[in-house]
Amino acid sequence: MKTLLTGGAGYIGSHTAVAMLEAGHEVAVVDNYYNSSPEAIRRVEQITGKSVTLYEADAADKEKMREILKAEMPDCIIHFAGLKAVGESVAKPTEYYRNNIDTTLTLLEVMKELGLTNFVFSSSATVYGEDNVPPFLETMPKGACTNPYGWTKWMQEQILRDAEFASNDTLSVVLLRYFNPVGAHESGMIGEDPQGIPNNLMPYISQVAVGRRDHLTVFGDDYDTPDGTCRRDYIHVMDLAEGHVRAAEYAVSHKGTEVFNLGTGNPYSVLDMVNAFSKACGHQVKYEIGPRRAGDVQDSWANADKAKAVLHWEAKRGIDEICRDAWKWQSNNPQGYGE
Ligand code: NAD
Ligand code: UD1
Repeated sequence: MKTLLTGGAGYIGSHTAVAMLEAGHEVAVVDNYYNSSPEAIRRVEQITGKSVTLYEADAADKEKMREILKAEMPDCIIHFAGLKAVGESVAKPTEYYRNNIDTTLTLLEVMKELGLTNFVFSSSATVYGEDNVPPFLETMPKGACTNPYGWTKWMQEQILRDAEFASNDTLSVVLLRYFNPVGAHESGMIGEDPQGIPNNLMPYISQVAVGRRDHLTVFGDDYDTPDGTCRRDYIHVMDLAEGHVRAAEYAVSHKGTEVFNLGTGNPYSVLDMVNAFSKACGHQVKYEIGPRRAGDVQDSWANADKAKAVLHWEAKRGIDEICRDAWKWQSNNPQGYGE
């Protein structure tokens, strides 16, 4: 199968490129390097010993995308390209709506022109919002999102459903709702490389462990959970990547819209993750308890039964492997790709 990954130089895209190549599929990547570096793809090629066709382009540039998609004619497009920082989306909502929604609309329009039919989309557990109680099931109503980033995912899901509905059974759309992607490829050659101060827990812990930051602030220990800290469904990025291989294979052999949670079904608290990481790196990761972060939900985890039943996929790696691989990436690349 020929796949085209928008945003393929990013964190999840680069790991998916490895999984795709290892499964015997071809990979082309379109990225504007807004939040990534072509170095990630060079390393994907090193890990797999296979080559990737790389295009530097904005996925919302219709003429450019027409040219690229015409040249590639992929069996399946996996659309990772997007802006994803929750706090930034509150400060720059129009940039988020423009980039995230425009890329999806552009791809749908060009796909229609060229007769391309299969699309896998990076959605998020954030669409369950504040109104649902975990474990989250795909059939639960999408909730009230707490920020513009979440709304862009919610809206893109709706746009894709509507386009598929109108396509008279020609389009295939797979919506993947990721829980908390963490960890790195086991080689330690590719991993998450956030710009500036990390917003998310695992990159922050990694940077404290490697000495780039003094300590982690735990956002609240007064939640109604066993240790008082929030619980999440942390999924190893290579498990997530393998989920995309199954999803793309499913997309090319079915029509219609399907939505799948990609999570482990197992919740862990913030302090569970600090302790597991401390074990992996061989020293205590320093932390202090701070106030709650606005917008945080207490609990979020998946019911991942549908992906297991339909895609024959389930997460295999646990938090010890997550922390081992994240530490390998961080300790081998203390400044990320920027060295
Ligand atoms: P990332 O920022 O590492 O990757 C996104 C990539 O898209 C980057 O390489 C960036 O340069 C590129 N990009 C952005 N806008 C572009 C455009 N207009 N044209 C071309 N390239 C563009 O993020 P990630 O963590 O790999 O996330 C991938 C996708 O998964 C995103 O859509 C994100 O919203 C979604 N997602 C991520 C998480 C997470 O925790 N990482 C959770 C749920 C959903
Ligand atoms: C965040 C986003 C969510 C997005 C998801 C992608 C927010 C409010 N939500 O979710 O929309 O889909 O990333 O993975 O940003 N924590 C600390 N200290 C820190 C950082 C985090 O204690 O310095 C805690 C948080 O309070 C939370 C947990 O760690 O309980 C995980 O946080 P994070 O990695 O930011 O992910 P989410 O909040 O689940």
